[in-house]
This record gives sequence, C-alpha cells and structure tokens, in this order.
Amino acid sequence: MLIRNSIASDPKSFEITSKSTYLNRRSFLQGGAALAGAALFPWSVSAAMPKKFKNLIKSPFSTDEPVNKYDEVTGYNNFYEFGTGKTDPMDNSATFESRPWSVTVDGLCDKPGQLDIEDLLSKFQQEERIYRLRCVEAWSMVVPWVGVQLSSILEKFEPNSKAKYVEFTTLVDKKRFPGQNYPIVPWPYTEGLRMDEAMHPLTLMATGVFGEELPPQNGAPLRLVVPWKYGFKSIKSIVRIRFTDQQPTSTWMQQAPNEYGFYANVNPAVDHPRWSQAKERRIGQFFRQPTLPFNGYADEVASLYKGMDLKANF
Ligand code: MTE
Repeated sequence: MLIRNSIASDPKSFEITSKSTYLNRRSFLQGGAALAGAALFPWSVSAAMPKKFKNLIKSPFSTDEPVNKYDEVTGYNNFYEFGTGKTDPMDNSATFESRPWSVTVDGLCDKPGQLDIEDLLSKFQQEERIYRLRCVEAWSMVVPWVGVQLSSILEKFEPNSKAKYVEFTTLVDKKRFPGQNYPIVPWPYTEGLRMDEAMHPLTLMATGVFGEELPPQNGAPLRLVVPWKYGFKSIKSIVRIRFTDQQPTSTWMQQAPNEYGFYANVNPAVDHPRWSQAKERRIGQFFRQPTLPFNGYADEVASLYKGMDLKANF
C-alpha cells in the first residue's frame, strides 16, 4: 500500500532469507521477548509457538502456480499497525498476543453475538486454499492460506434482508500495535464488502498460512482474504463484523478517495492515478507478468459486476 510520495520497492536480496535462517532469527527474537515477558505475562512463552492444523481439506479453488517462499509471505508485508516498512510487521510483532480474542458480529442481523477464535478454529472446517494475492502496489504472491469460507461464519448470525454490506474493523491497541501511536492512516483500519461479495464462495476468513496458525504479521488471529480484489481489502486482525445498509467507507477511501475505491477489483485496464496496473512483479521473480482481470478469478466473480462501469466503480 502506498501513501502519497512514498515509493514502492521490491524486497532487497538481504531481506529474503532461507526458511531456517528466518525461523532461527524468529525463535531467537521470540525467545528473548518471551523470556523478558515471562515474569509479567507467563502465557507469552506458549503464544510464541505457532500451532499446526490437523485434518485440513484442500480447496478446489486453489491455483496450481508455485507457492511463494515462507519468508517472502511472512517477511514482506503491509500491516501499518506495525509500521510502514515491508519488514516492520515481522520485526515489530514478535511479542504480539492474539489471545484471548473474540469478534463482535452485529448490525442488521437476527442473531448478533460474539465469534470466539477457539470456536472458529475447532468448530469450523479449516481448508487450505492457495490463492494469488495481488497488491495495489503492483506486486503479487501465491499464498497457501488456511481458513473458513466467510459465508459459513456470517450465516450463523443470520443477516436480515436489510443487510446490503458488511463492514470489518481491526483491533485498536496502541500497546500491541505500535504503528497506531502515529497518524499514518485514520485508525481503526476498516474495510467493507457488498453482501454478495462477502457470501461468495471464494471469500475466505483466514486463520492460518503454510498449515499453521497465522503469524502476527499476516493478521493473527483472523484476517480476510478476497483474492479477486487488491490486497488492501484483505483486512487483518479483525475484531468487529457489522452488517449494514450503507456502503462502508474504508480506511483507504478516507485517506485518498481518488486513488482507492470501494470495489478495488483487480483490473489491468484501470490504472492507479500514479502508476499502471497492467503488469505485476511476482515476489521472487525478476520479470514482470501481465495482471489478469479480477486477478485471474473472472470466471467465478465477473458476473457479480454485470452492467457496472468498472472505471467509475474502481
Ligand atoms: N489490514 C490492516 N489492519 N492493516 C494494514 O495495513 N494492509 C493491507 C492488507 N490488510 C493492512 C491490512 C494491504 S495494503 C495488503 S497488500 C495486505 O494486507 C497484505 O497482506 P500480507 O501482508 O499478509 O501479504
């Protein structure tokens, strides 16, 4: 994601480490932080160990393109709550606690309530879905997410017929999210989907990546993944889901309404005002490749936008 006057950059070679070097460095950092925190917060030690999912089912929606490396997916991130640099989320999140965690689900629904993360992990079928992620900054990755189809979560709260949109909100906590001490964007980070987009089978509530629970830098403990939209729609560390009859104003619409629209469907034919969207650089590759309409998911989702002017509704 870019704010005016900043320049997008691909990861430097020194930022890309092998998985073993990366994991050693992480366990060193987490171990140090855990030791430092153990006296005050005895649960920090166990929180540092990512849990592996058992009984994952493979999704038929997965792409067969090669998956990006672990250290690319977890070491080159956009998560402004931890800072604006690509390695800030990894560097500043070692002590982040994602438990206890619950999500308030309210607004225009018949059964408002709380979604508990442990219930989400134990009572819903977790799937592995390998999706392309296309960032608005014109880079992309292929990520092996683990998660639950969003529709199966939303149905439990029985949205009523007045609900036309769903709004998502990230946690506000200046202690856990150091970036929130600075007015980088208006906090909390918010996003929204039209109801039919939220209920679409491709829309995933991710709980993990690479077969393990999400690390903080990827949005622990739960984040949205909407693979046909630019990455900024995939909001992280969600604490509220609200059904509404009004189109939500997302963080990036507030920040720069002429640059970031509500729909944000990946569209090589509609340039960002400051750069082209025709091509993308797959992280880890040298040559750029053409960007596909709806990020390659046109067969599944183009019908949602039939008759709409996609230049006006960018
Ligand atoms: N969610 C929150 N709360 N804060 C953010 O800064 N960045 C977005 C999105 N979700 C962001 C966020 C952007 S711009 C992108 S491209 C994706 O997260 C990146 O997801 P990843 O870091 O897991 O690749």
